[in-house]
Amino acid sequence: MKKYGVNELRKMFLDFFESKGHLAMKSFSLVPHNDNSLLLINSGMAPLKPYFTGQEIPPRTRVCTCQKCIRTGDIENIGKTARHGTFFEMLGNFSFGDYFKEEAIHWSWEFLTEVVGLDPDRLYPSVFESDDEAFDIWNKEMGIPAERIFRFGREDNFWEHGAGPCGPCSEIYYDRGEKYGTGPEDVMGGEGDRFMEVWNVVFSQFNNDGHGNYTDLIQKNIDTGMGLERLAVVCQDVASLFDVDTNRALMDEVGALAHCRYEEDDKKDVSLRIIADHVKSCTFMASDGIMPSNEGRGYVFRRLLRRAARHGRLLGIKGLFLKEVVDAVVENYGGNYPVLVENKDYITKIITLEEER
Ligand code: GLY
Repeated sequence: MKKYGVNELRKMFLDFFESKGHLAMKSFSLVPHNDNSLLLINSGMAPLKPYFTGQEIPPRTRVCTCQKCIRTGDIENIGKTARHGTFFEMLGNFSFGDYFKEEAIHWSWEFLTEVVGLDPDRLYPSVFESDDEAFDIWNKEMGIPAERIFRFGREDNFWEHGAGPCGPCSEIYYDRGEKYGTGPEDVMGGEGDRFMEVWNVVFSQFNNDGHGNYTDLIQKNIDTGMGLERLAVVCQDVASLFDVDTNRALMDEVGALAHCRYEEDDKKDVSLRIIADHVKSCTFMASDGIMPSNEGRGYVFRRLLRRAARHGRLLGIKGLFLKEVVDAVVENYGGNYPVLVENKDYITKIITLEEER
């Protein structure tokens, strides 16, 4: 398997779904539009909710995106585990009342096995426990033996994020092999690092009013979410999100400033990961017009930036240094997000002013 880079994988995904009649749309802003239920966009489908509910007409009934997202629920764990970061990009293909389970499953398999070249024998689908239709597509149409298709309950295979469109889902896991774990948690659907959930294909057909009341949407939709960096972890066969090429480049930059190297000292590694992740989030937040402040999104910005600055001190870096990391973010992500290049001076100013404070 070729070890594609993050920037290559993003393009491969969008090109593939364009070839299947999708409109590749630019990432929406991190700032939700007309949606009080969210502080920051946290999934590929979040900015598309009005298209799922039928409130707004989409530019096409098939759309694909690579959406910038921020999740800060688990901020204290960032840097300490392989799985947590605040900023991530989510690849998604979406159908608004167009295709449904069959095409979505076929195309996810085709992309992973034929375009990216993952070994089909290492891929395991799961379905919602009562979803015989999805089970049969995997089994009878895709030829996956029944014992390799897992039926899981609501916690794993019913996707929803607060209020809005939701539904049962089918997830695709990749077996990364014994070198990533042999414990009791390293089983399909377990918490270990061996089996990694790569893609979530949601059969979005209900609306949750935010209080657990479900109604049928006027149309059946597809909403998929695949973390770009997770795909890169599998493809590049590396231990964690932080080890993929783009994140390594950011950590190398911080390491050069701190005169240390990643993977030499566990404590320093935590600081390197935190700085890379948090400065990436702050760079993207500034580029979407968010300013550091004491409330809401601005507080998330302030908190992440101050954590990054503090970890710089822990690494022994003297003076202002975040600008250099912003430069590395722009260098690695500016190809797909030209706004980072266009607004680099502004972004740097906002971040440096806050760092000085
Ligand atoms: N909306 C599907 C996902 O984020 O997994």
